[in-house]
Amino acid sequence: MRRKIVAGNWKMNNDLKETIDLINDLKQNLGNVDVKVLIAPSFPFLKTAVDQVGDHSIEVISQNINDNKSGAFTGEVSIDMLKSIGINTTLIGHSERRAIYNEDDVLLFKKINIALKSNMDIIFCFGEELKDRKSNSHFDVVKSQLDNTVMKLESSSWKNIVLAYEPVWAIGTGETASAEQAQEIHEFVRNYISEKFNSEVADNISILYGGSVKPSNAVEIFDKKDVDGGLIGGAALKAHDFIEIIKANS
Ligand code: 13P
Repeated sequence: MRRKIVAGNWKMNNDLKETIDLINDLKQNLGNVDVKVLIAPSFPFLKTAVDQVGDHSIEVISQNINDNKSGAFTGEVSIDMLKSIGINTTLIGHSERRAIYNEDDVLLFKKINIALKSNMDIIFCFGEELKDRKSNSHFDVVKSQLDNTVMKLESSSWKNIVLAYEPVWAIGTGETASAEQAQEIHEFVRNYISEKFNSEVADNISILYGGSVKPSNAVEIFDKKDVDGGLIGGAALKAHDFIEIIKANS
């Protein structure tokens, strides 16, 4: 059975105190939920976040990794560094990394491989831009993003992967994909995985939706049969909203 997951991507937000306060707020108010909850604070506060979470079931994850093991890569952070502070999961391929830092499929595939080799789990993000949807090429774009990366893996690697469909036009814009639009892509991706690998891999993969998820639209989106949870940006910065979204997936 695939897992229900809600992950908060805090992006480049929150200083040290805000990071600690938000974690404490989540710990105090989350209660018992039947959902895996992940948070991705920024690099300087990951160790503090791990300590602050303590033995609570919330998992602290990384927003990014470098594609090399170590060495002369000024300003970068390696998987071994992250693992040494208790981080075992990372986002890869977020659209902001693709668009602002020119991360292409070749680099993303390198990141996926080094992560898997180092026993780090992955939330792999993909999704079309507005121009792709307008030209009705969103299925082709998504297929190509997957073909160039995760579809090249062995089926045994899929147990360490979660997918996150994040249509770029819905990220931070307030414009959410409709539940039907999300379901349509999620179903397409799951069927494609089944075709390329097998139905067991397809049934077990959690596919999250991301893009302007809010307490007001979360239930409708998470209710769709191929939507297994969400990757939340803005609304994950407020404990109350993030908790409402998590509960919408219970
Ligand atoms: P928003 O929820 O702010 O649209 O961001 C989504 C996202 O990019 C999560 O990774």
